[in-house]
Amino acid sequence: MAITPPWPKPLPYTANVLRRLKRGWSSWFGLLNEWDFRIALGELNLLGLRVFLVNDRTLLRRVLVQEVDAFPKHPYTLWILEPLIGRAIFSVNGDEWARQRRLVDQAFQVAQLEQVFPAMEAAKEAMLERLLQQPPDLGDCSQQGSEIDIEAAMTWVTADVIVRTILSRPVQEGEAREVFEAFGRYQRKAARALILRFARLPRRWVQRSLTRDALVIRQWIQGVIEERLAQPEAGVKDLLGALLAAVDPQTGSSFTTEELVDQICFLFLAGHETSASALSSACWLLALDQEAQAQLHAEVVSLPEVVTYQSLRQMRYGAAVFQETLRLYPPVSFFIRERVNEETELSVQSMEFPQQAPSTSRCPVGSLLTFSPWVIHRHDDYWPEPHQFRPERFLEGTASNQEILCRKEAWLPYGLGPRKCPGAAFAQQEALLVLAELIKHFQLFPGSEDPGPQWTGRLTLRSASGVVLKLVPRSVVKN
Ligand code: HEM
Repeated sequence: MAITPPWPKPLPYTANVLRRLKRGWSSWFGLLNEWDFRIALGELNLLGLRVFLVNDRTLLRRVLVQEVDAFPKHPYTLWILEPLIGRAIFSVNGDEWARQRRLVDQAFQVAQLEQVFPAMEAAKEAMLERLLQQPPDLGDCSQQGSEIDIEAAMTWVTADVIVRTILSRPVQEGEAREVFEAFGRYQRKAARALILRFARLPRRWVQRSLTRDALVIRQWIQGVIEERLAQPEAGVKDLLGALLAAVDPQTGSSFTTEELVDQICFLFLAGHETSASALSSACWLLALDQEAQAQLHAEVVSLPEVVTYQSLRQMRYGAAVFQETLRLYPPVSFFIRERVNEETELSVQSMEFPQQAPSTSRCPVGSLLTFSPWVIHRHDDYWPEPHQFRPERFLEGTASNQEILCRKEAWLPYGLGPRKCPGAAFAQQEALLVLAELIKHFQLFPGSEDPGPQWTGRLTLRSASGVVLKLVPRSVVKN
């Protein structure tokens, strides 16, 4: 029997924009209304700014794939991330973005999945050691099982993976805590900065609130880059080595040192925040759905004792669990674009009444268009029983025709088009490796007294109260 995991339900409609902004103060989910999960295109005038919520499949493709230059990344993306990642690939547009993307793609080709596998394996081993050695902050997992915040454990292991991949060195305990706390604060303030920016507060004022925490993270990254550059032989094959060596075939240029720091700051954040979010949601879903967990365990124990790069590719059910997790709890729950150059019309077909003529909305220059995997993945007109956790949707032979269509057209955890995430395969490899190891050694249960995660939509999807689970060693479960 499929389970329906709890999720923060959208609130009833209110026409009062200030009340809506107040609701979105601590989580952007507060801005959503019930009907946003039923309509093709939402439209709102936010203190003079035209804001659209795009759910329609054809319009999604038009904006994100076909007319990318007329709908670039919205400047708010740059404003809230600039203190942290400068002008790195994620938030810039045009030629500046295209050159960076060519260099990053080149570096990813050098530091391929098979090559980064040993770094992932080492981080996974270190995670297991931490969980088995009962460190005080993770609790005692060795005897009857104990309750831990799996979100903290997943944040640590994914940060360790990305730092080992980029810089050929592990993350140490003290630095991990300091950096994660600074990023937690940055996330909270950035979500608020976005709301304040909607209220037209000046950009510099809004950014100032973010600078202190950004500096903690940037200084740490700058330090570890310098440390690594002092031993060039250490990292011939790591991602920093590949980024240093990348040369743009069109301009003949490489990353400058300053650009490199921005880029690594972004890759560090993109590479661990999103994966940590996805892995903690996956663990929580498996703890709630013991049948799915048993099926995944059976798949894991059918693999060779030591999971290799090749054997990981046999984890079909594991991959389906991960994809279904990304559908229900997408780590990047929204992204935004801006209309530039000239006014246009946005035309959509009603999903509830497809026989009606398409409706058209004026989209002036400067309009903000929001795309939300959180909404589209739970939209009433796309996925059958959208709120149920059913990994079978992603398995050949068990998915319905509607689900196969939705996988192609209404599943976008990594975005769409030329700005699509280049780290998707990396994230899946890392997630399967970590999940396989966890499920092999522990049975996961929800925390006994815990009310469950409080999902909060910020830069990434996180739980405001952590994700408390009980980990019982498999040896104890058998007895
Ligand atoms: C489950 C894990 C991940 C998810 C859900 C995710 C999601 C996304 C999304 C939605 C975007 C595009 C946003 C937009 O169109 O505005 C993006 C961009 C990006 N991601 Fe990821 N990501 C993940 C992991 C990673 C990893 C592991 C890396 C690198 C190691 C990475 C590197 C990037 C980069 C460089 C971009 C910018 C691409 C561009 O603008 O051209 N991501 N990611």
